[in-house]
Amino acid sequence: MANWKDSRILELFGIELPIIQAPMAGATTPEMVIAASEAGGLGSLPGAMLSIEQMTQAMDQIRAATRNSINVNFFSHVDPEPDAAAQMKWRAALAPYYVELGLNPADPVPSSNRAPFDATYCGLVEKYRPEVVSFHFGLPNAELLGRVRATGAKIIASATTVAEARWLADHGVDAVIAMGYEAGGHRGNFLSDDMGTQVGTIALVPQIVDAVNVPVIAAGGIADPRGVNAAFALGASAVQVGTAYLLTPEAKVSEFHRKALLAGGDDKTALTNLFTGRPARGFMNRLMKEIGPLADIAPAFPTAGGALTPLRAITEKAGRSDFSNMWSGQSAALARVMTTRELTRYLAGL
Ligand SMILES: Cc1cc2nc3c(=O)[nH]c(=O)nc-3n(C[C@H](O)[C@H](O)[C@H](O)COP(=O)(O)O)c2cc1C
Repeated sequence: MANWKDSRILELFGIELPIIQAPMAGATTPEMVIAASEAGGLGSLPGAMLSIEQMTQAMDQIRAATRNSINVNFFSHVDPEPDAAAQMKWRAALAPYYVELGLNPADPVPSSNRAPFDATYCGLVEKYRPEVVSFHFGLPNAELLGRVRATGAKIIASATTVAEARWLADHGVDAVIAMGYEAGGHRGNFLSDDMGTQVGTIALVPQIVDAVNVPVIAAGGIADPRGVNAAFALGASAVQVGTAYLLTPEAKVSEFHRKALLAGGDDKTALTNLFTGRPARGFMNRLMKEIGPLADIAPAFPTAGGALTPLRAITEKAGRSDFSNMWSGQSAALARVMTTRELTRYLAGL
């Protein structure tokens, strides 16, 4: 695009449009990644909820369908030590729901399904050599990061404050994703857990641009070309858009999640830690209203999800969202139903 003032990200990633289809664990399909990259943007495959086998299959599919650059995304949290007391408290808080649905609150529950980046996932990066690798919740340890860098991948990661952006730049990232408070899904915060002081996109982007020497990718609340232009005016070199892609046919979302997205509304989402143990933005539902949306009772990330699994299994079958996360940013109402290809080009003003 001739009009973008800043082409650093285009050159860095080898892409035509400064539009990054955000990695969205659980919702992004290989088809979405392929379509975004083929449209000239950067498709991003999230690894956090995929086994190695699933990810291998997805990468085979993507590499066979497009020669364009892609991003592969991982969570870089450290799994917590088992904490039986915290789990017991959490299960006691959920026990009335178990009883209501005819379940035994003492039955064993599955463990959580969000895995951190490790040597096995790193092997996959070494095998498929994605052009870009992105991390959420900070960065993996120096050894793993060195292995990723040795593949030639450009490394990017989310920052929710200027301090996090500086930390990432000091640790050698090629670009910083400035993730504003409006964004859907998990906050990428890793230096501070204080949700009360998290920063909105319009304040965060220019402050990060001023603080670091690497290009900045704006994320959070951007869902149409106005948001893209605003991000560029603030000094961003590209945007990462998530929520708007949830309405594409390539997204994997439940029927009730899709309905909530279509209903839109600027004031329908909140930050909640109840589904995983870490704060994430999603549509309000029964569990969030009754126990949260933020509550100390939720055990450490990612272990909160296990005890919700039996509740979700029953209610989701009945088409109810009572115990299910429906991640969304604050700009769902700006999203229009269109294909991933159309959306990628529309965002770029084409
Ligand atoms: C459904 C959903 C799932 C997400 N999962 C991930 C993820 O797996 N990894 C990640 O780095 N970010 C994840 N995010 C955050 C997005 O990558 C992106 O930063 C965010 O969606 C941008 O804000 P927006 O939703 O307002 O466009 C997710 C967001 C959503 C809405």
